[in-house]
Amino acid sequence: MILNASGSLDALEAPEVARALDVFVTKTVTPQRREGNRPVRIAETEAGMLNSIGLENPGIDGLLDDKLPRLAELGVPLWVSVGGFAANDYAQLCAALDDRREVTAIELNLSCPNVEEAPESAAELVAAARPQTGKPLFAKLSPAATDLPATARAVQNAGADGLSLVNTIRGLALDDKTLQPRLGHELGGYSGPALKPIALAAVYQCYRATGLPIVGMGGIATGRDALDFLAAGASSIALGTVLFADPEAPGRVRRELADELAARGLSGAEDATGLAHGVKPASVA
Ligand SMILES: Cc1cc2nc3c(=O)[nH]c(=O)nc-3n(C[C@H](O)[C@H](O)[C@H](O)COP(=O)(O)O)c2cc1C
Repeated sequence: MILNASGSLDALEAPEVARALDVFVTKTVTPQRREGNRPVRIAETEAGMLNSIGLENPGIDGLLDDKLPRLAELGVPLWVSVGGFAANDYAQLCAALDDRREVTAIELNLSCPNVEEAPESAAELVAAARPQTGKPLFAKLSPAATDLPATARAVQNAGADGLSLVNTIRGLALDDKTLQPRLGHELGGYSGPALKPIALAAVYQCYRATGLPIVGMGGIATGRDALDFLAAGASSIALGTVLFADPEAPGRVRRELADELAARGLSGAEDATGLAHGVKPASVA
């Protein structure tokens, strides 16, 4: 499956791009509406992009009343990404989404580098969300965790059905002339090609640690990148930064991946998942 990475595509502005995906993932929604951080909020750097959007979103009511019905008209399965500043926010958001038939899964954004984080651990946030919904929960983790496999096991034990790996990692870019931070928020989340080896390591380690389904993302721009993520242990992949430069990436990456699989005699993405590990872990069916 090919998804978009949360926050990297406005499906209502570019419906044809969203329709080329297997799943559309919304930008992270919070309980209250948020304006986001002050501009400048995006800066290109040598090998990736810095953003400090700061979770600008219409709030859960704005999503449910206005955006969700319009997104459902796209005819693409929808995942909603939720985020907050305390465990109760995650619980409240999952409860509000539980009876919405348009939503096939919920992604818990446990790791936004551009806003203050909830004081609870990732596992505590998942534990708060879990009883509120029967929908599949994907825990989106930061690659900056000190012991990412341990965090992945903890969120699995707390009830996560899958992992989304990875979110951006904190970065800084300075202006050539003034040597001042280029982003209004100063620090931002770093994404794009430079993130790929970091993300691959996260997928590789968390696949071993949990055997959970993983949506792999971080610098994927080609079918070969996608194949690497599958081999490391992802069962799906998501496209983020590449969509800014190439809106046709979903179709192109899909074709390139099919060619990569065929060239290796693999009949589908399922056959590629985990190949980098030689023998699949016993926990993986
Ligand atoms: C402009 C922008 C906005 C983003 N907003 C969100 C967000 O709202 N929620 C989230 O979980 N991740 C967000 N991300 C992170 C992406 O979903 C993804 O994890 C990250 O960019 C790595 O993938 P990439 O290198 O393919 O972009 C955002 C990334 C970018 C570039």
